[in-house]
Amino acid sequence: MYSVPKLDDYSPAALDRAIGNLRSALEQEVSAVKSEADHEALRIRWRARTNGILTQINDQWLKAAPKEAKRDVGQRVNELKTWVEAKIEAAKYLADHFEPLSDEEKAGFRERAIQAITEARVARERLDITLPGIRRPLGAEHPVVKTTNEIIGIFAKMGYSVETGPEIETDYYNFESMNFPPNHPARDTQDTIFIAGQESKPQRDRLLLRTHTSPVQTRAMEKHRPPIRVVAPGKVHRSDTPDASHSPIFHQVEGLAVDTNITFSDLKGTLDHAMKELFGSDVKTRFFPSFFPFTEPSADVQVTCFKCGGKGCRLCKMSGWIELLGCGMVNPKVLAFHKDNGYDPEKVSGFAFGMGVERIAMLKYGIDDIQLFFHGDVRFLEQFA
Ligand code: PHE
Repeated sequence: MYSVPKLDDYSPAALDRAIGNLRSALEQEVSAVKSEADHEALRIRWRARTNGILTQINDQWLKAAPKEAKRDVGQRVNELKTWVEAKIEAAKYLADHFEPLSDEEKAGFRERAIQAITEARVARERLDITLPGIRRPLGAEHPVVKTTNEIIGIFAKMGYSVETGPEIETDYYNFESMNFPPNHPARDTQDTIFIAGQESKPQRDRLLLRTHTSPVQTRAMEKHRPPIRVVAPGKVHRSDTPDASHSPIFHQVEGLAVDTNITFSDLKGTLDHAMKELFGSDVKTRFFPSFFPFTEPSADVQVTCFKCGGKGCRLCKMSGWIELLGCGMVNPKVLAFHKDNGYDPEKVSGFAFGMGVERIAMLKYGIDDIQLFFHGDVRFLEQFA
C-alpha cells in the first residue's frame, strides 16, 4: 500500500519522481474500485481531512519544504490535488455506472472512461477567463408587434381592454354573425382561404382562416354584457397574390364599443383622436361613405397626407388624403344576435372599426414593400430596435 514518503530532496527531478509514484499508486487503487463501498474506502484514504493522503502531502511536502522550494512545491501540490480529486470523482462514476455492466461491455471501456472524466475535470479547473465570451445578440420587437402595441396603448388609455380570438374560425363567426348571410355576394370581397374537407358539416360550422378580426366582436359580445369597449389585435388571412402592397397574411386591430347612447360623433371623436396620437396632432381626418355588412352607416377613414401635409404627393397619389381604416355604427342585425346577453338594438348602440397594422406601420416608417415584414431580414428588422 502506498504511503506518503518524507522528502529531503526538493529538486524538480525528485519532485517529479515523488509525484509520479503517487499518481501510479492512485491509478492502481482506482482500478480496483468495484463498488460503492470500495469507493468510499478510497475516498476516505485519500481525502479524509485528518491524515488523508492529500492532507499528508500538504503537511509533509509543502509545509516541510524549504523556503526557496515553497513556490514550486505549492504549485505542483495544487495541481496534484485537482488531479486526485478528479480521479476519485471518476472512480465514483465508474462504481455507479460501470460495474453493473457485463464483462464484455466493460472491456476497454474503463480506462478510456477514467481518462476522459479526469481530463474533463482537470480542464474545468483550468478555465481561461481571458477568452472572449459568447455574445448573444439582443432581439427586438418586430415592427408589426411594435405598431400593434402602440395602437392598443392608444385605446387602452381611453378605457378599452384587449380581446383575442382564434385564427381558424367557423363560417358563423367570420361571416354569418357579421351579417354576411350564406351566399351573400359581400362574401366575395373577402378572398377567403377555406379549410379542406368540411363539406359534411353544416355551413355555419365549416372552418376557414379568418379574413378579418371582426369575428372577435361576436366572441366579445358572447362573453361580456354591455357596456363594452374592446380592441382585438391579430393575424388574418386572405387569398391574395403577394406584391408590394398585398400579403396573404397580415394583421388588424379591431375595435368595438357598445353602450347606451353611442353616436356617430363618438366614433368620429374616438378615431380622430387615435389618428392624431398615431401620426401627430397635425393630421386631420375625414369620413368617406363606404359599405360593410356589419356596420350601418359605414365609412372609410382618411387622414391628411402627413408627407405633403395635404398638398398632394406620390404617397397620397396627389389626392392629399390617405385611406387608413374601415368603421361604422354596429348594424342592429349584429347586435340582435346577442339580444339575450343585453345587446337589445332598441336599447344599446355602438361603433366598430378595423385597421390594417402593416399599412399603418408602412405609412409611419416610410416602408414601401409589405413583404419586408415577412422576410425576417435582420438588416430590416434591426432598424426598429
Ligand atoms: N373587417 C373590416 C375589414 O377587414 C374592417 C372593419 C371593421 C370595418 C369594423 C368596419 C368595422 O375590411
